Amino acid sequence: RIFKIASIPGDGIGVDITEAAVRVLNTLSKTVGGFEFEFETFDWSSKAYLERGWYMPPDGLEQLKKYDAIYFGAVGWPDVPDHISLWSLILPIRKALNQYVNVRPTRILAGTKSPLSDCSPSDLDWVIVRENSEGEYSGQGGTSHEHSEHAVATEVSIFTQVGIERIMRFAFEMAKSRPRKKLTMVTKSNAQRHGMVLWDRIFYEIAKEYPDVEIDKMLVDAMTVRMVLNPKSLDTIVATNLHADILSDLAAALSGSIGIAPSSNLDPTRKNPSMFEPIHGSAPDIAGQGIANPVGAFWSAAEMVRWLGEEKAADGLMRAIENMTEAGVKTKDLGGEKNTKEVTDAVCTEIERL
Ligand code: NAI
Ligand code: MG
Repeated sequence: RIFKIASIPGDGIGVDITEAAVRVLNTLSKTVGGFEFEFETFDWSSKAYLERGWYMPPDGLEQLKKYDAIYFGAVGWPDVPDHISLWSLILPIRKALNQYVNVRPTRILAGTKSPLSDCSPSDLDWVIVRENSEGEYSGQGGTSHEHSEHAVATEVSIFTQVGIERIMRFAFEMAKSRPRKKLTMVTKSNAQRHGMVLWDRIFYEIAKEYPDVEIDKMLVDAMTVRMVLNPKSLDTIVATNLHADILSDLAAALSGSIGIAPSSNLDPTRKNPSMFEPIHGSAPDIAGQGIANPVGAFWSAAEMVRWLGEEKAADGLMRAIENMTEAGVKTKDLGGEKNTKEVTDAVCTEIERL
């Protein structure tokens, strides 16, 4: 089988970690056999935008529909306002390709440590299911009296029955598929009295279809405390676009580093390609130094391989990553001394040993 992959490295460390992931994926397909990747690289980035005035060409989204999957690095650079870069590339892709679910697993990899004291790998093993199409990132609202002393802005969150039901069903299925069958739903329905209350209602309605899933409900502020003080009490988590965005950075830090955390932007109907990317951004503070941790990119690549149906190869890649971290090959953010290239070389060697 040949998988056609659109690769969008983007900006900053996105470029380094995408290059590393492509190398790892090619090594994986050669070693495991039975499938191959055909990569096409798109130079859609802030750097290109500054030169030519656009991120994606007008038919960019149509072009992407021809691929089996999209591999994404990161977008954003200090010379371009972040709301321009995000709304020119990553958000339109997620929305236009119906990638309404963002799956963000978190766990402590072999040979790495959580900054939480006494936290063992079995104490922190979560999947955050992020609503990826609406809510606080609907892009609705506006500004008036801008550049006066009376500027007013609205940022309207849109929540729909269809949007909430489909993310809840996905989250319940995810919870059901995991050993603990436990789902925690996060909102802020005490202060936000419309959209969040609708979330709560639909959550309890869908829960009736899943009597074997244990459920509970948290307010997002209290949730941050629970993640830090009682990580073991959590398993699968479902939250809105904004809340899950924030909680997943915290989750990544609690598991050891933001540099290891993967994400899958999924169109569960499979009518459009899904997109795989580490959760971190372009990290301008370390860009160009060759020291970014590529593990989040590799884990995202493993999730892509799994989504494409090559389960065994995906498991193999995860084993290779953990054999490497267990052997102490780690970047600085995980307390090691290796650079991006050395970690990439080491994973390739581990893959060849599988
Ligand atoms: P960031 O995730 O890029 O960086 C946060 C901190 O984590 C920095 O200190 C960085 O050095 C560190 N870090 C991130 N990834 C790392 C890795 N792989 N290895 C080692 N250290 C790592 O978040 P920040 O600084 O808020 O955003 C930078 C730019 O990225 C902004 O333009 C932002 O809009 C954009 N961004 C883009 C995303 C995307 O494309 N999906 C997601 C998040 C941010
Ligand atoms: Mg984020």
